[in-house]
Amino acid sequence: MTAILSDRFLDRLARARSVVAFTGAGISAESGVPTFRGNQGIWTKFKPEELANLDAFLSNPSLVWEWYSARRKVMGEVQPNAGHLALARLEQSFPSVTVVTQNIDNLHRRAGSKHVLELHGNIDRNYCMGCGARYVGDEILFKEGIPQCSGCGGLVRPDVVWFGEMLPLDQWDESVKAIESADVVLSIGTSGVVFPAAELPLYGKRHGAYTVEINPEETELSETMDEVVRGKSAQVLPELVKELESRGVGKQTQKISRK
Ligand code: OAD
Repeated sequence: MTAILSDRFLDRLARARSVVAFTGAGISAESGVPTFRGNQGIWTKFKPEELANLDAFLSNPSLVWEWYSARRKVMGEVQPNAGHLALARLEQSFPSVTVVTQNIDNLHRRAGSKHVLELHGNIDRNYCMGCGARYVGDEILFKEGIPQCSGCGGLVRPDVVWFGEMLPLDQWDESVKAIESADVVLSIGTSGVVFPAAELPLYGKRHGAYTVEINPEETELSETMDEVVRGKSAQVLPELVKELESRGVGKQTQKISRK
């Protein structure tokens, strides 16, 4: 079944110079990365307060580390899906495409998106809580199951945002800037319940962007969007790219941008 892409949506896109894709766990669902909420969601099996916060890590670092290592393994083994690839391809159609993601799975970059802002960190990165030394992947010293900095002996943690923590300021500021100057904001595969990230599509709308949700289910953001496309991102986004390319959108905007 093909999704219905309205003429209004396609016309707004055809005239857009700047597009922001705001993404959540749903865009990676078809790659095999579980979402957080919903029937099969991670938070139905695990409690965020036991795993995704600083106190949990300080009181049981090896348990939290083990959990993140298992997730890192899953995320490293899966492949970007047609939705990630379509977003990367959109870069050929518009002068500016920014992906603002809540995901930590690196799949947008692996799909080829060049301008990716990560609001909740990245599972491939770790840092020492003592001296700030950075570690990539799993190559870390362990003492009795506890990840330790080879420089200062401090505790090494995943570079992800836990509940109760601030978002990385540079990523947030750049995201706000991109969203506030966007002509079209796509909110893709997110339930829109985790703040402050969930505010971003509304910032876009307030600044005149046309806002479109792509999600098979209704979300907290649905009512405020200019339009919703009910469907899976790995299906809807390739259709969108195909439609734009068949209308020659990329060629047009490239001509304009060369003037
Ligand atoms: P959620 O698990 O809350 O929501 C996933 C959304 O994806 C839901 O609205 C689903 O309907 C939708 N979805 C499922 N399959 C889809 C598909 N194939 N195509 C498109 N959409 C699909 O995930 P997030 O909104 O990303 O934060 O969650 C936000 C934050 O909550 C996460 O970044 C994480 C979590 O706690 C931190 O860890 C700080």
